[in-house]
Amino acid sequence: MIGKSIKRFEDLDSTNSFVKRNISNLEHGTIIVAISQSEGRGRRDNKWMSKEGNLYFSFVLKNNIERQCIFRYIVEVSLGIINTLKELNIDALIKYPNDCLIDGKKVSGILLESSGTFKLDYIVIGIGINVNQVKFNELTNKATSLKIETKKNYNINNILDKFIKNYNSIIEMNYDKLFDLYLNSSIVIGKTITYNDEKYIISNIERDGTIVIEKDNGERRVAYSEINLKEFY
Ligand code: BTN
Repeated sequence: MIGKSIKRFEDLDSTNSFVKRNISNLEHGTIIVAISQSEGRGRRDNKWMSKEGNLYFSFVLKNNIERQCIFRYIVEVSLGIINTLKELNIDALIKYPNDCLIDGKKVSGILLESSGTFKLDYIVIGIGINVNQVKFNELTNKATSLKIETKKNYNINNILDKFIKNYNSIIEMNYDKLFDLYLNSSIVIGKTITYNDEKYIISNIERDGTIVIEKDNGERRVAYSEINLKEFY
């Protein structure tokens, strides 16, 4: 369960970095929220612009997670976001592995960081949801927010509460069921991607997150960390 303890800050460098610096003092499930971040981080060393108005938070899991099960956490968090948006009457889909898109534009991202080799010491899951931002400048064609989509203003804490409730109920569910829901919300199967400068079609995603890609001369199985689906925006 997450959210028994929630610590709120006006401004942090990055909620993920804060959790990692304070890891030994934070209990399993603690949530760190910041109104803004000065050094918000995305996947693949990207920056995550983090001005006031959106939701930026991280939580820590310390329940003896095995590295080989890590994709399950991605599935759970992605569905937690999708279900939270559904409660707000907003339909979003998942771009593998864990971006949430509304009509092809990114509305949220997840940064998962861990320590340990086989049995992990901890996982930090950082989530950014674009909520009330209306200008994305050069990212206008690639990013969106709840406000842009619905013309409404949202209360950030309310969205966090909904996420906590959805996530806590999702983690009680059986993985087969969750994985089916993940595939049903996933947009990548059947799409063409470039891998090692060659074009492939994505034919499947397996339960551990391995992606199966095909071309005329056969199929390949690729770990999710190896693939970048930039061309989908
Ligand atoms: C991505 O799509 O590249 C992941 C973006 C993750 C952003 C969130 S905002 C809260 C947490 N703190 C960070 O520095 N990053 C994550």
